[in-house]
Amino acid sequence: MPEPIQNQGHTKKKRVAVVGATGIAGQQFLVALQNHPWFEITVLSASSRSAGKSYEEALRSSNGQVHWWQYEPIPPAFKNMLVQNSETLDLSQIDIVFTAIDTDAAKHLEPIYAAQKPVISTASAFRMEADVPLLMPGVNSNHAALIKTQQKNRTWKGFIVPIPNCTTYGLAATLAPLHQAFGVKSVLMTSMQATSGAGRNGGVLALDVIDNLVPYIPKEEEKVEKETLKILGILKNDAIADAVIGVSCTCTRVPVTDGHTETVFVGTHKPITVEQALTAFREYQSDCAGLPSAPKNFFQIHDDPFRPQPRTDRDSDGGMTTHIGRVRLEKVLGGIKYVLLSHNTKAGAAKGAIFVAEYLVSKGIIKD
Ligand SMILES: NC(=O)c1ccc[n+]([C@@H]2O[C@H](COP(=O)([O-])OP(=O)(O)OC[C@H]3O[C@@H](n4cnc5c(N)ncnc54)[C@H](OP(=O)(O)O)[C@@H]3O)[C@@H](O)[C@H]2O)c1
Repeated sequence: MPEPIQNQGHTKKKRVAVVGATGIAGQQFLVALQNHPWFEITVLSASSRSAGKSYEEALRSSNGQVHWWQYEPIPPAFKNMLVQNSETLDLSQIDIVFTAIDTDAAKHLEPIYAAQKPVISTASAFRMEADVPLLMPGVNSNHAALIKTQQKNRTWKGFIVPIPNCTTYGLAATLAPLHQAFGVKSVLMTSMQATSGAGRNGGVLALDVIDNLVPYIPKEEEKVEKETLKILGILKNDAIADAVIGVSCTCTRVPVTDGHTETVFVGTHKPITVEQALTAFREYQSDCAGLPSAPKNFFQIHDDPFRPQPRTDRDSDGGMTTHIGRVRLEKVLGGIKYVLLSHNTKAGAAKGAIFVAEYLVSKGIIKD
């Protein structure tokens, strides 16, 4: 069991703002940051629609319904906190900004915040910019060095670090040890994605997905294909050279509340056996053990061929473990195939963003 990593010797918690606090991903931040040992929410922010209202009031619609969508209750400390307008946010008393807003709002607001402070984003707006790392602690932690280039290019005191799409998360994590040891040549992936990842605004309607499967998720396949190559790429001379891997995906929506399942077929440059693949997964050394949100086991390997299953497995290790099962030889591509499961609203969303912030604090990249 690794020693817990300390908050860089600081006793004071870092003060954080959650922008988009009234939305689904924003609410996930409130739950995940309750009693966090290093971070404390001191500002809640959203659009002008919510600004000036208490948090609970901002969540309430005209028919009285409180739009709180988490399984846990609203943390009492936030119910009466006033929501601030994201356009006029005073960042002077803030150490880190977590953003959970849609792409257009992120394109406009994140650079304003990043001029002053570190911004960790759940939005896709900056993921593919050349000087922006798409950071997954334990997978491509060394890409954090790109932050300096970003600050220099844009003359920012802070920076933007986005997290990957929730479907990319499990795929990139499980490909990392295989790529390191055997060189990944080609990947075919089909996802069976939970409804919660769609969010509520513009998400799938229950009636569309019950007793059904929706075979298309707009823009998802392109995101997963591009992001995976960037995450597994090599940082050299202040730029990331994308991994040279053929990646092709089909992304579908299934009637599961939380937890994305993916079937993955991998062709490798070096020959690989099932035993070697299992060893690569089991012995994979992530460099983030001991951080408050790090899972005890980066991967959980299942030998029961009926696992992993979303309902049974998604919440283990706080939803931060990536589950791998059904590891078999892949004869057509020449490699291995497996089934993975990762938690789309935890590792793939707010908790994943908090994990990134913890990593950057532990490396002294986020300072007081
Ligand atoms: N849903 C998920 O599980 C999930 C997972 C991973 C990533 N994400 C990403 O997280 C982001 C938010 O998704 P969501 O599902 O949480 O959306 P959502 O439920 O619609 O929430 C949107 C939030 O953004 C705020 N907002 C809207 N327009 C704004 C503006 N112009 N300026 C400032 N704030 C504004 C809203 O505030 P008001 O209430 O005041 O309108 C609300 O707090 C998206 O980029 C999404 O791709 C979501």
